[in-house]
Amino acid sequence: MLRGDLLDFTADPGFHAPDASPGVRWREDHVVLIEAGRILAVQPFADFSARVPEGWASLPVQDHRGRLLMPGFIDTHVHCPQLDVIASYGTELLDWLNTYTFPAERRYADPAVSRDGAQRFLSALWAHGTTSAVVFPTVHKVSAEALFETAHAAQMRLVTGKVLMNRFAPEGLLDDVDQAERDCIDLIDRWHGQGRQAFAVTVRFAPTSTPEQLAMAGRLCAHYGGTYMQTHVAENRDEIKWVMSLYPDARSYLDVYDRDGLIGARAVLAHGIWLDERDRAVIREHGAQIAHSPSSNLFLGSGLFDWAQAQREGMKVSLASDVGGGTSLSMQRNMQDAYKIQALQGTRLTAWKALYTATLGAAEHLGLAHEMGRIEPGCMADLAIWHWAQGPVAIHRDTLAQSSHGSLHERVFAWMTLSDERNLEATLIAGQTVFQSPSR
Ligand code: GUN
Ligand code: ZN
Repeated sequence: MLRGDLLDFTADPGFHAPDASPGVRWREDHVVLIEAGRILAVQPFADFSARVPEGWASLPVQDHRGRLLMPGFIDTHVHCPQLDVIASYGTELLDWLNTYTFPAERRYADPAVSRDGAQRFLSALWAHGTTSAVVFPTVHKVSAEALFETAHAAQMRLVTGKVLMNRFAPEGLLDDVDQAERDCIDLIDRWHGQGRQAFAVTVRFAPTSTPEQLAMAGRLCAHYGGTYMQTHVAENRDEIKWVMSLYPDARSYLDVYDRDGLIGARAVLAHGIWLDERDRAVIREHGAQIAHSPSSNLFLGSGLFDWAQAQREGMKVSLASDVGGGTSLSMQRNMQDAYKIQALQGTRLTAWKALYTATLGAAEHLGLAHEMGRIEPGCMADLAIWHWAQGPVAIHRDTLAQSSHGSLHERVFAWMTLSDERNLEATLIAGQTVFQSPSR
């Protein structure tokens, strides 16, 4: 049973002014009753204390008064092995992959490295308030197994699958079409639908798969309809030129995937910065989503994603850290970068839109809103508890936001802009504490 101030969303706030945004739900001093991993009830504390439900009187209340209680964040695109190369200097995408990323990923052939890496990575997500993620492991089957095992033990909702790549990568990072297909089918049989685990057909990106491998990936998607698909698309201009030289008969980069049946409602497409209007229409018509990866797009110098345009055109967009191209697992830090990316293009991103996108929005786009992304009876108790401010500047700003009779948005926006994982008090997954700040 938790007590605190609850913020979550019931609908997409859109790109509206803060005070004209729909779907914002702010519930001060409420209790969240949790049973068997799920939220059982949400009530104002005053009502609860006046009439404690039978059997609950003796249970301890975790008192988080004065803290911000939100659904855990959902990071829709992040690479487990790339914690080893986060913050690597000096390159754009293709050089960055060859110089830093591929050597790091090769180490995951070793099951012990995969297991340690999965544990370190998921613990790190929890320590950033992220309770669910769509994850790239490596080409090695064992790297996906290690993630599934670790997430399953924590009852964490995880979407992953072994990476498909059979060309243009070093020895030790290549699969072949037949073995890769067998590995995927084994992983689907063992893990897809096991507890909260879900399989994703995971095409690294068009250059590192032959046409035969993409066709195989398409067959998997068609045959196993409940699985997800994840890949990268239209991230970097040199990458796009390379794709078009490898697939000269495709209309566009996106079309390379689309013509093999890879773009469906369960497709999670990282980046999508350089899509054209027809590509965007294809994504909208299929109900696929773009995993917008702001800190990665800035750090690798990939480009400015036009989120407002995507919204106008009805494309689904979620938020992602894309570590290690991205510079932080903190979803607030990625929101801060998203705000600046939109500001450079003349749009203002409200805290409402950003926070909705990293919670209920992602859950909706993944078809999982019945389970997560809201603080609602019946949903799993995947929650994060945040301090409003850390350090003198943020504390001063937060105090002013409260005392100036400013709007709630003023306070929450300042929190979003000045906070990161150091503000996190605790993270719960399925009602169990998976992270507790050591400093309190
Ligand atoms: N495109 C293909 N692989 C990757 C990757 O690991 N990170 C990013 N940002 N883009 C990619
Ligand atoms: Zn990525």
